Amino acid sequence: MMSATNISGKLAANHDRSKAYGREISVRKLSPSVGAEIDRIDLSRPLASHEKLAIDEALGRHGVVFFRDQNLTPDQHIRFAAQFGPININRFFKSIDGHPEIAEVRKEPHQEANIGGLWHTDHSYDQIPAKGSILYALEVPEVGGDTLFASMYAAYEHLSDGLKHTLQGLRAVHSSRHVFGAESKTHAGENDLKGRILNPELATQDAVHPVVITHPDTGRKALYVNPNFTLRFEGWTAEESRSLLSYLYDHAKREEFVGRFQWRPGSVAFWDNRSTWHLALNDYQGERRLLHRITIDGVSLS
Ligand code: SIN
Repeated sequence: MMSATNISGKLAANHDRSKAYGREISVRKLSPSVGAEIDRIDLSRPLASHEKLAIDEALGRHGVVFFRDQNLTPDQHIRFAAQFGPININRFFKSIDGHPEIAEVRKEPHQEANIGGLWHTDHSYDQIPAKGSILYALEVPEVGGDTLFASMYAAYEHLSDGLKHTLQGLRAVHSSRHVFGAESKTHAGENDLKGRILNPELATQDAVHPVVITHPDTGRKALYVNPNFTLRFEGWTAEESRSLLSYLYDHAKREEFVGRFQWRPGSVAFWDNRSTWHLALNDYQGERRLLHRITIDGVSLS
């Protein structure tokens, strides 16, 4: 995992692969399968139509897009997100004061557990899973606290035809209960996320989605199971599901499908939850890391 492609380090090498929009915006692919950095858009202002188009297209193509050196108030963050769809009010994350739309992703120097430290895609436990999430960094460790992203397009496309055929007919059960519910490690007191993760009584959702989805915007096929929220294949026991899910998880996090983003204050990552996984590295004990996340509603994947 730690040898995943370093997205920041790839910038110079891929600059000549950039695509220009008008004379201003550039989109630079940052690793072979996932991630692109978009330059010269100020996210604090309403987007011009060509800027919105550039972001939509890059998100569809690269799964996650990054912006540097942004300066967003909570209202500007919300206005940026709302240009891409209705905002989902997260029921488990503590929100920031006065802005229920913005979930706080915080780890204090004395805290050990981080939010998002297992590979996952946001809200797969919902009947209508989230389209995307927009994470804005306010304070980050000097070194560490990077986020890894993996392309579920690449994971699907590199399966054998035989396995693709088998998966095509399968659906999987996803749940929030074991992660956010009363039975979770957090609420059982086995980690120090309590206070940052709330409302265990609301973790009642189970949802069933196809194991292979056709992406609603791009029409590409993507693998749609993830280690944090997927419990089992529909109609199979958890025990029967374990080996095939483990195989898919090991396959999906192969280093050629993964990219790594190094945060700076003012960085923004906007990822597509239908075509990527992400994982926040927890390698910075004793330092604060604080980001604001907004999640955008999606559509049914069935
Ligand atoms: C998340 O899983 O939404 C948090 C990701 C991060 O903190 O990098």
